[in-house]
Amino acid sequence: MHRPIAMFDSGFGGLTVARAVIDLMPEEDVVYFGDTARYPYGPRPHAEVAAYSEQITRWMVAEHDPKLIVVACNTAAAVALDRLRKVVSVPVVGVLEPGLRALLSVSASHRVGVIGTVGTVASGAYQTLADTLAPAIDLTVAACPGFVEFVEMGDTASDQVHVLAERLLAPVVDAKVDALLLGCTHYPFLARTIADVMGRDVVLVSSADETAFAVQRQLDGAGLRRSESDERGVVQWISSGDADVFAELGRRLLGPELDVVTAHRWGLS
Ligand code: DGL
Repeated sequence: MHRPIAMFDSGFGGLTVARAVIDLMPEEDVVYFGDTARYPYGPRPHAEVAAYSEQITRWMVAEHDPKLIVVACNTAAAVALDRLRKVVSVPVVGVLEPGLRALLSVSASHRVGVIGTVGTVASGAYQTLADTLAPAIDLTVAACPGFVEFVEMGDTASDQVHVLAERLLAPVVDAKVDALLLGCTHYPFLARTIADVMGRDVVLVSSADETAFAVQRQLDGAGLRRSESDERGVVQWISSGDADVFAELGRRLLGPELDVVTAHRWGLS
């Protein structure tokens, strides 16, 4: 039995990271948990998101004995990453730093934007990280409440989502950024709409690929990678909400290998 890479998100957003991890390291076993019973995390108080993140992390360690955990959710990583690293002994990888590094690497003007949930933006985590990684950068951060709900309904390209995008993206359009980080793992599913609004000169950056590379580096560094010649890994999909709904929409978003979904119900505590 191989130890899996575990990852979680409030719902479907982390599938963008799962896709990248599976494509980069198809031989690895993966356990994905979507907390769809309690999504969205963005509007919730930080303490609540942190408590959920800790509950999921501890449960994954107890239940699945992962060799590494990916917090495939910006909101959870923004408010809980430091704490999660203290409460479990396995390495915990977040999405903020890989995403921001990727953003900085593609910007020529050093005028960049990050969009995320209300929770992520209010945490100030991206500003704090940018002050450390690139203090001279001109960073505009904008919250996009409502984007996650459209993705979770399976609506990624309607007129309504376009109208909302025009309104919410106005601050980063006005700031004339040349690169925009999709600082919520749900947002790559809205990439076409976001690109239409931002225009073709703005590079859209997803944290998914960079996070997958960060995971690969951690595993390599710790000697925990499975051999690339091994057979394809086993992927388990778990949802705290309706397993059938998760399977149907998840398959549309990630692809056909999202097949069997197991339900995990939280107690009433
Ligand atoms: N995918 C999440 C993120 O990256 C979350 C969103 C939500 O549930 O509001 O922030």
